[in-house]
Amino acid sequence: MLSLYIHIPFCASKCAYCSFNSMPIDFSDTLIDEYIEALKKEIDHYADTIEDKQLKTLYIWWWTPSRIWSSRIIDIIEHIRTNFDFEELAEMSIELNPYPEEEVLNFVQDLNKKYNKISRLRYSFGIQSFDDEVLKITGRAYNFSSIVEFLRALSKYKQENNVFNFDFIAFGKFQVSKNGFKQLRHEFKRDFFQNFLASWFADSISLYTLENIKDKLCPKIYFGTDEEIMEEFLILKEMVENEWFARYEISNFAHAGKASIHNMVYRNMEPYIWLWLSASSFFGNKRWTNTWDIKQYIQGERIDKKAVQVLNESDLLIEEFFLRLRTREGIADINKFISVLVPNHESLLKNYKNEWLILFDWTKLQLTDEGMNVYNSIITDLLIKI
Ligand SMILES: C[S@@+](CC[C@H](N)C(=O)[O-])C[C@H]1O[C@@H](n2cnc3c(N)ncnc32)[C@H](O)[C@@H]1O
Ligand code: SF4
Repeated sequence: MLSLYIHIPFCASKCAYCSFNSMPIDFSDTLIDEYIEALKKEIDHYADTIEDKQLKTLYIWWWTPSRIWSSRIIDIIEHIRTNFDFEELAEMSIELNPYPEEEVLNFVQDLNKKYNKISRLRYSFGIQSFDDEVLKITGRAYNFSSIVEFLRALSKYKQENNVFNFDFIAFGKFQVSKNGFKQLRHEFKRDFFQNFLASWFADSISLYTLENIKDKLCPKIYFGTDEEIMEEFLILKEMVENEWFARYEISNFAHAGKASIHNMVYRNMEPYIWLWLSASSFFGNKRWTNTWDIKQYIQGERIDKKAVQVLNESDLLIEEFFLRLRTREGIADINKFISVLVPNHESLLKNYKNEWLILFDWTKLQLTDEGMNVYNSIITDLLIKI
């Protein structure tokens, strides 16, 4: 079985913290339709060259919706459906900026109506923060009260096959309000967040620590130090976990049975193809990356020839170790990875175990909660190269 990941890279404007390849655009620009045509050609190309047409998951990553977009998105999905088999599709997932609210609500209704038979239709809404100062400085077009209204309205449209995920980022500094309260220690927002989590309206929560922000867009000075960001993350994490969201990956928490199936495809290194500008796919033992140049992509010169990589055994092991360790299950058989671990890994593992960063018994290796918070340094220490 195969998973597909498609991306529409256009946004109304660029959010200051966003580290993704997103492109501000005027929504009347014809480039959008040209891009969608190129995307369909790429879908056709894989439909012609890949034998296994059974889709396991379909993930649609896009930025700023509007009424016109639901028909465009449905058009792309239907194009995929004519080329691939949806019979056993376990999840279709769509990422959305929750603004403009009215348009997003219309979009959800349109997709819900069209795809009420597939087994799981998952939406991931990027709320990011309840702090108006953070929202303003990062260029988000809504505020706390409008997002509350949005969530109330959204609750009317949730249907049986829906899974709702909400993204939040721990920004650190601006979570501290002028009177010195942390945002979520501020009573009414804390109460709202608490009730929101307790309501079971959200099936899963993604909680990120602010990372890789581009200095040109928003100097890091506007946000917290790494310690302040981690402090904020831990406050949010505790609230989330207290309401029965279990951490299944470093940044992802879900109620039982609601973890993202697509994420597990990726972490388990099952075959997936990402279709879009600058996408990186993994199939067989090959990884390739599409061009970053939208004009080239539209002209059909998709794959960046320099970025086609045939992965050898050791590359594949490193990749597997890297991905599996991010998950709650961790690594089942450490012996399989001995050749890619640094020579002193045994003493490192012993130290981590003593510091309560890992659970380890020579067969199974799992990160504890504290270990997940310092994943990057553990992985850099353990692997011969990353
Ligand atoms: C690919 S983005 C798309 C979200 C959607 N376009 C939106 O605006 O809500 C997915 C998520 O990545 C997270 N994210 C983006 N930039 C980040 C950064 N610099 N550090 C941490 N998380 C980030 C945000 O929570 C965001 O919702
Ligand atoms: S966070 Fe979302 S809307 Fe903002 S720039 Fe990134 S992709 Fe676009």
